[in-house]
Amino acid sequence: MIGKTFARTAAAVAAVLAGTVAFAQGSPATLTIHADQPEHAVSPTLYGLMTEEINFSYDGGLYAEMVRNRTFRDDWSGVPYWYLVEDGNAAAKMEPDHATGPSDALKNSMRIDVEKANANNQAGVLNVGYWGMAVRPGTTYKGSFYAKAGSGDLGPVTVSLVADDTGKALATTTVSGLGTEWKQYEFTLKTGAVTASPANHLALTVGHPGTLWLNLVSLFPPTYHNRANGNRIDLMEKMAAMRPTFLRFPGGNYLEGNHISERFEWKKTIGPLVDRPTHPSPWMYHSSDGMGLLEFLYWCEDLKMEPVLAVYAGYSLMGEHVEPGPQLDSYVQDALDEIEYVTGGTDTKWGAERAKDGHPAPFKLTYVEIGNEDWLDKSGSYERRYEPFYKAIKAKYPNLQLIATAPLKNSKPDVLDEHYYVRATQNFHDASHYDKTDRNGPKIFVGEWATREGAPTPNFAAALGDAAWMTGMERNSDIIIMAAYAPLLVNVNPGGMQWETDLIGYDTMKSYGSPSYYAQVLFAEYLGNHTLSAKLEGAGPKLFYSITKNTAKKQLYLKLVNGSSDPQALTIELPGAKLAPTAKVVSLTAHSMEATNTIDSPSHIVPVQSTLTNVSSSIKHTVPGYSIEVIQFDEQ
Ligand code: AHR
Repeated sequence: MIGKTFARTAAAVAAVLAGTVAFAQGSPATLTIHADQPEHAVSPTLYGLMTEEINFSYDGGLYAEMVRNRTFRDDWSGVPYWYLVEDGNAAAKMEPDHATGPSDALKNSMRIDVEKANANNQAGVLNVGYWGMAVRPGTTYKGSFYAKAGSGDLGPVTVSLVADDTGKALATTTVSGLGTEWKQYEFTLKTGAVTASPANHLALTVGHPGTLWLNLVSLFPPTYHNRANGNRIDLMEKMAAMRPTFLRFPGGNYLEGNHISERFEWKKTIGPLVDRPTHPSPWMYHSSDGMGLLEFLYWCEDLKMEPVLAVYAGYSLMGEHVEPGPQLDSYVQDALDEIEYVTGGTDTKWGAERAKDGHPAPFKLTYVEIGNEDWLDKSGSYERRYEPFYKAIKAKYPNLQLIATAPLKNSKPDVLDEHYYVRATQNFHDASHYDKTDRNGPKIFVGEWATREGAPTPNFAAALGDAAWMTGMERNSDIIIMAAYAPLLVNVNPGGMQWETDLIGYDTMKSYGSPSYYAQVLFAEYLGNHTLSAKLEGAGPKLFYSITKNTAKKQLYLKLVNGSSDPQALTIELPGAKLAPTAKVVSLTAHSMEATNTIDSPSHIVPVQSTLTNVSSSIKHTVPGYSIEVIQFDEQ
C-alpha cells in the first residue's frame, strides 16, 4: 500500500520536525519493564511467509526441477534453453511440433529428426538448465521424459549429465524400448566422485537414424523430505529457521496475472505434471506450474505452517475486472471448489480429487484472502466483488476468517491486508504506526512488507528498518494477527531478479540469508506469548524495543534496535523481577548501513551470541550503534 504508507510517513516526519521526539541519540535512556504486568497476548501466528512466482522463486529456485522449459515452449527464437547435439559426424535437426504432444494440456513437443548417427556419434538435444545444473558428487538424480519414436528401431536414448567445460558425462544411463505412442519413461542418474559445480547440462541423444518426439523432460536432485516433484533442501532449511507459522500463497501479483486469462488457475496446477498446461506469470517469465496448489500445501506441511489461501477475486493487473453479477459466479464457485480441495473430506468432489492426487487427509485452513491489493482496481468494483465471495464462503465455511485486500465502506472485514514497502528512515519514523490504531476495527494482516534498501537482497540499513518495524508489530500483535516479509526469494543470477530487496538469495548451487533474514530469524525465535508493560524514556529517535514473555519457559525477550551509528547508553529497570544472574544476548551488528551479505560472502553479518553478566533489577547496558539485539532473561 505504497501511497497510503507515504502519507503516514510524511505525518511521522512532520511530528519529528515539530519536536515530538526530543532526545538526542547519545543521551542515556531508561527502559522500565514490569515483568509482572502482562499487556496483551502476542498473536501465535505473527510471523509467517508470503510467496509468489517472482525472481525465479519456484522455477529456477525453490522448486528443484533442473530442466528449464521442460515442456518445450517455443517463441520467435526457437525453443529456449534447448540446443541440438550432433556428435562427430552425426547429423540431425530439431523443431517444435504443434501437431503432437503427450496430453490435452501439452499438445506440442520437440521433434528431432536424426539423419545420421551411430553409437559413437550420437545426435539429440541438450538443456542448459536454470543458469546451469547443480551437480554434486555421490548424488542420485531422478528423471523422466515423455517420448514417442517414428519407428520401433530407434534404439535406446542416452541420458547424461555433462560437464560444460570438459564435455565429459558425469552420470549417464540409457532408456530403451521407445514405442511409437506417447509414454512416460523414467531414469536415474548417479554421480561418482565428481567436483560439485553448476556448469553442467543434460543431454538426451540416440545412436540411430530416425525420428524422436520429446516433452516434459524432468530431472530432480534429492529434495526436502525426499518429496517427488519437491523443493530445494537448502532453501527449505533456511525458511524452517524462520519458524514460520503460515504461508500466504499464491501471491501477490502472481494470483492475479496481467490478464484475467493469465490468473493463477488452480485447477490447472493439480494432478500429474503432464496435465498442467503451464501459464504466463506477470513477472515476465512463464511458469511451469510444477509448484501447484498441492505442492504449496506440501510446503506448508513440511514446515508445519498453515496455509493462508488467496483466491482469485476477479481483478487482473492490466486493469481488467470481472463485473460483479452472473459473470462472477464461476469465479466464486472456483474459490469454493479450491477451499474444498484444501479442506474437504474424501467424500467431497474436490477432497476426493486431492486424495487422488496423493493426499487423502484434509489440510487445516483458517484464513482465506479475497484477491490481492484490490485498491489498485480503479473501477472501484472491489467491494461489489468481495461481497459475493464473502457470502458464498461464509455460507459454506462459517468458521473461515476472510481477509479483505482493501478497506471496505459497507462492512467490517474479519481481517484487512495492508502492505508496506518503504525505506529504513520511513520505518524508523513509522515503527509506532499501529500504536494508536482503533482496537475495534478489523484485525490486521501485514501481508507484504519490507524495508527496500539493497539489491538483490537487503543491506544492514534495511535490516535495521525491518527490525524497528517488527518491534512495532510485536507491540501491536493484539490487532496484527499475521505479518509476512515480501518478496521472500531471489535468484541472484543475471536476469533472475524482477524486484529489488528480497530476503533470501541463491544461485544454482548455493543460498544465503540477508541481514534482514537474520533479523527475521531472531525475532521469530525469541517471541513470547504476551507483551509486558514497559516504558522507554530519554532515548534518541532511532532506538526501538519490544518486550515479550514466554510464560511456559519463564523467559523474557527484550529486543533492542539501534538505527543510529552512535551507541545508546541504557538503564534497564526490571522492578521486582527475580532473574538469573546471567542473560543470553544475540546481536546482529554492522559498521555501516551499506554492509551486507552476498552469495560469495554469505556470513558477513550473522547473529553473534554473548552473555550479559551481573543481571539485577537495574542493568546498565550499552546498545551498540547499528545493532539489533535480543536479550533473553530467565526468571528464577
Ligand atoms: O512483492 C511484490 C509485489 O508487490 C506483489 O506481487 C504485489 O502484491 C505487491 O505490489
